Amino acid sequence: MNKKLLSLLLVGLLTVFGLMLVGCGGDDTTTDTTTEDTMTEDTTTEDTMTEDTAAATSGDVEYTIKFAHVVAENTPKGQAALEFARLASEKTNGRVEVEVYPNSQLYNDDEAIEALQLGTIHMAAPSFSKFTGFVPEMQVVDLPFLFESVEQSREAFAGPMGEYLNGKLADSNIMLLAAWDNGFKQLTNNRGPVNAPADVENLKFRVQESDVLVSQMQAWGASAEPMAFSEVYNALEQGVIDAQENTYSNIYSQNYQDVQDYLTESNHGLIAYAVVTNPEFWNGLPEDIRTALDEAMAEATEYNSTVAGQINDENKQQLIDAGMEFNELDEAGLQAFRDASYPVWDEYADVFGEELMTILEDYRQ
Ligand code: LMR
Repeated sequence: MNKKLLSLLLVGLLTVFGLMLVGCGGDDTTTDTTTEDTMTEDTTTEDTMTEDTAAATSGDVEYTIKFAHVVAENTPKGQAALEFARLASEKTNGRVEVEVYPNSQLYNDDEAIEALQLGTIHMAAPSFSKFTGFVPEMQVVDLPFLFESVEQSREAFAGPMGEYLNGKLADSNIMLLAAWDNGFKQLTNNRGPVNAPADVENLKFRVQESDVLVSQMQAWGASAEPMAFSEVYNALEQGVIDAQENTYSNIYSQNYQDVQDYLTESNHGLIAYAVVTNPEFWNGLPEDIRTALDEAMAEATEYNSTVAGQINDENKQQLIDAGMEFNELDEAGLQAFRDASYPVWDEYADVFGEELMTILEDYRQ
């Protein structure tokens, strides 16, 4: 067993042990609502899904689903995860409890995907970029200036692009349950307003762990440091990096306004989430539970689409109110960034393959 796998297993076991202690101590300051008999798991999929055979009466928790993600609760993903948990409980009369662990409390995204494959957790919703090391085609969503609107990205996820990526995930033993929105990424930095690629030259940007995003920054004349989301604030504060790209909701909820001065609306790329589960786990659930969870997921996805735009709009204004110097790229600036970005498309054409690239031609700006 390699070292990383071993450390994941250890983290999983320590988490379970920690939660058992919490359960015994009745500490209600945590978000954990786990009862002792849901905590009998080890690291296999079947065993992590505790079935309380004695609990046949309505209202007793029979299935506990651990859902880990990295953002704050007051974000589009954070809210949708909580809504899914509420709906899952409601639609199963309390037989299913979804424990949502936000803020990288359990794992960063890379670790969460591995933990999901191992069955230590049952659900995760990493951005498409985070699957790069598992299913490289997923980072297609990172191609700069791929989509013009969030609506268009939803169509793509529901159409041939989504189908294609779904097939690739299935080959890696990951099941896609839904695609959730966040919104478009914007630029922040500490040097000055950004109006054209020349303004980001030699800035060191944190990017998500995606090769396409590294290439994008290099194509703009900047440099890129792939880094887990939970490490970004400190890296900005300590000057390890001087810039980053993210959605308004992620910028605001992580308080980057405290460590970054300039905010530029560039809408150059999307952050969307692949809500995933372990197929062995999901298909092992009784049919009535699966049907209820599918309904809960459809409704939570609808809810996510409704709130994502609202939260990002509100957070944009809050960032401006907090004193960030704000500007929008004008048409000439946007075109200069588009032109600088197109070589990245060519660079990845072979990685993504002809079939996927042909599907993308419908969207490319
Ligand atoms: C990031 O790492 O910046 C994002 O993927 C975080 C998230 O889940 O939105």
